[in-house]
Amino acid sequence: MIRKIHHVAIAVKDLDEALRFYRDTLGLSVHEQATQEDQGLKAAVLTIGESEIELLEPLGPDTPVGRFIERRGEGLHHICLQTDDIDKDLADLKAKGVELIDQEPRQGLVGRICFLHPRSTKGVLLELAQPLD
Ligand code: CO
Repeated sequence: MIRKIHHVAIAVKDLDEALRFYRDTLGLSVHEQATQEDQGLKAAVLTIGESEIELLEPLGPDTPVGRFIERRGEGLHHICLQTDDIDKDLADLKAKGVELIDQEPRQGLVGRICFLHPRSTKGVLLELAQPLD
């Protein structure tokens, strides 16, 4: 079952510059920073109450986030919904004809994740995540 918004992810050109606003100006704390070579991005995760904000900087122009910024500029990249049973929710959505980017859950930054295609969600890239804990 889908429980809450786990995080909102924002595509940025320069992570350090973005942190000057989200960390220093807004005063949010960074609880994780990681480079994901396979995804072609550098990420910082900031805590905001029970949710998080992810800042995503592409490692180059020819990466998914790099192409996103090229097409649409910096800004909202995806919204992540937390589920307590990603296998069941993904199977249910598939059965309801929702267009998926990931046919099966895979390992992501926050646990097991999958993405739904914006064509099925009114233009927003949606991630489902089942955190490890
Ligand atoms: Co995410």
